[in-house]
Amino acid sequence: MPFAGRHVVLGVSGGIACYKSCTLARRLTESGAQVDVVLTAAAGEFVRPLTFEALTGRPVLASLWERGGGRALAHIELAKQGDLVILAPATAHLLARAAQGMADDLLTALLLARTGAVLCAPAMNDAMFAHPATRANLKTLAERGWTFVGPETGALAEGPSELPGRMSEPETILAAAARLLAPPGRLKGKTVLVTAGPTREHLDPVRVITNPSSGRMGYALAEAAFARGAEVILVVGPTDLPVPTGAVTHRVETTAEMQRALQTLVKRADVLIMAAAPADYRPAAPAATKRARSAGDLTLKLEPTPDILGSLKRPKGCLAVGFALETGGRDGEGGDGVARARQKLQDKALDLVILNDALEPGAGFEVPTNRVTIVRNSGAPTELPLLSKRDVAERILDEVEQALS
Ligand SMILES: Cc1cc2nc3c(=O)[nH]c(=O)nc-3n(C[C@H](O)[C@H](O)[C@H](O)COP(=O)(O)O)c2cc1C
Repeated sequence: MPFAGRHVVLGVSGGIACYKSCTLARRLTESGAQVDVVLTAAAGEFVRPLTFEALTGRPVLASLWERGGGRALAHIELAKQGDLVILAPATAHLLARAAQGMADDLLTALLLARTGAVLCAPAMNDAMFAHPATRANLKTLAERGWTFVGPETGALAEGPSELPGRMSEPETILAAAARLLAPPGRLKGKTVLVTAGPTREHLDPVRVITNPSSGRMGYALAEAAFARGAEVILVVGPTDLPVPTGAVTHRVETTAEMQRALQTLVKRADVLIMAAAPADYRPAAPAATKRARSAGDLTLKLEPTPDILGSLKRPKGCLAVGFALETGGRDGEGGDGVARARQKLQDKALDLVILNDALEPGAGFEVPTNRVTIVRNSGAPTELPLLSKRDVAERILDEVEQALS
């Protein structure tokens, strides 16, 4: 998260979702940002300035006229100095005032003086959001360069709704903010297609062959690529992890479904990262109804699943990264894991292979960390230490960006 040492202005207007802004202020502060909170008068009715002051360790600004610390021109200072202005929640009223160019309080005066990035998280009743006046205001502000995150569907203060209005969660807003603050890199605007998780092959309607892949490595790659400005498409097998922010997610169950999804999606990909652990075998004759338990042994005949990488027609110039999972230390069982990874590079025409070991403590399946070796077509492999999967993802994307250049 590129927040360390950055100056974020968090504008809070008067809606129920103000309570989520407290978490957002805290998470930004914990991530190393200097956070200046600016409240509208209505926001001050929902959450007292003291709460934000305690969470950010900085004075809160709430009025053009009652100046904190002698900062008579705080609205101009903050407009100029802030690396990013986040509006969360942004009420219908705030959007209307901003679209009209009004400057009748500290927050709207700041927005009028702002020339840099603004990230806006609208939050309101679904009918207020759908109203033509709000739609027109959103269009105006988008045309002026504001970036929007949400609103989402889901429960509103007044009850359940299937229409957008609910403010995005703080983590989602943080991810969108990180993307805006990220330094421009090679992945900006590129389409990155990532696979994640296991696949499941049915023996019968209620029993499956699968593996313990959690999807965490692929999700970390998807999140990191989004933060670097990429358009991210994620093809994911069965996993309970919440969908990562910003990725267009396609859910599949079997290896054949994953192959079919990728055959279409790969046409758009500038980068393909195969972090999923698809099943290599499936029952040759899955039963249509549940197999009854019987006293004797059960022998299953398995057949190979489709070779996804081997069958994909990647567009010219599409950079491809594969994962190689070993189970016998970095040097592999009775041989050289790096040599096998190199073979995979050639056999599957890959640009990078990420070698990792499922049996190594803290690496491979299920855990939040991984220890990998990056193997390229030429040059020595790079052994990375044990890192969080997000940090591993960042290192892999550094390699990808280097290869793209
Ligand atoms: C309990 C309550 C909840 C409200 N929630 C919202 C909301 O979620 N979104 C919104 O746009 N307005 C909401 N409003 C209305 C705004 O508070 C009102 O339009 C106010 O003028 C907004 O001022 P501001 O944009 O300067 O903060 C709510 C009002 C009340 C009393």
